[in-house]
Amino acid sequence: MYFCSENRKYRETVFKKKIKKNWIVPEGVKPTELDLRVLALQEEGYLVPTKKLIKTPEQIEGIRQSGIINTGVLDLIAKEIHEGMTTGEIDRLVYDYTTEHGATPATLNYEGFPKSVCTSINEVVCHGIPNDEESLICGDIINVDVSTIYKGYFSDASRMFVIGKTTQAKQRLVDVTLECLELGAQAAKPFGLLGDVASVITHHAHQNGFTVVRELCGHGVGLEFHEEPDVDHYGRRGSGMVMVPGMVFTIEPMINMGKRDVFIDAEDDWTVVTEDELPSAQWEHTFVMTDHGLEVLTA
Ligand code: MF3
Ligand code: CO
Repeated sequence: MYFCSENRKYRETVFKKKIKKNWIVPEGVKPTELDLRVLALQEEGYLVPTKKLIKTPEQIEGIRQSGIINTGVLDLIAKEIHEGMTTGEIDRLVYDYTTEHGATPATLNYEGFPKSVCTSINEVVCHGIPNDEESLICGDIINVDVSTIYKGYFSDASRMFVIGKTTQAKQRLVDVTLECLELGAQAAKPFGLLGDVASVITHHAHQNGFTVVRELCGHGVGLEFHEEPDVDHYGRRGSGMVMVPGMVFTIEPMINMGKRDVFIDAEDDWTVVTEDELPSAQWEHTFVMTDHGLEVLTA
């Protein structure tokens, strides 16, 4: 077959997938070595970031300082979390530590989110809202997702905590999800593609009989809470945006024991829950891409 006549004249414009030319060097400006390398990839048809996603060394230092406070919060929670504690108590610990260190919890009043941290227990995937009624019981697995603004710089990380001893299946979900984050981060190479990260995460989850949530993703972070690009945790190798040194973003896989489908609780419009109500786990770090690979800013 051949193009129908109407489409022949459009074959250049209509059928060719258009990639946004994000990387711009103004006329008359001498391109740097980085410019030349990124422009070459762009000409080959790869999606590259806009220049504003490349952080300066000063900005990276600011995000690092924010990340140190964020890690301090998570270390405090690791020390204090226990059976019988309410998620409201976790919220107060986060608020107090963060503000005592001259910082602000990024979730507080973010798009109407009412608390300083997200606490997501068992079948809650993410965005669980802390409260004074819900207390932790032995066998629970809980994600505590902390994000901090310090001197205008944002950092974001989350960990899983196991209350007492849990079932072998839930423990394996927690462990495999951490491996997904670690393997995904190792797969990220300078000038590599975000799809390489996603495909490693998906492969490892599926190999262990688990599924990957698609509706929520990681994200650029640093000067705002959520920046470009979306960092999907599912996808094909060789797809997605080029990771240019200086980009700062999170990787935060949400891995389900059962089906990948999720819904938002209509009661609060925030809490994301697995459709089959089987457990879900998540781990998250903020990373900066360097000339040698990812560096963690929240460890
Ligand atoms: N820390 C979460 C993230 O990874 C933020 C949740 S958005 C909120 O992006 F509104 F719930 F705070
Ligand atoms: Co995040």
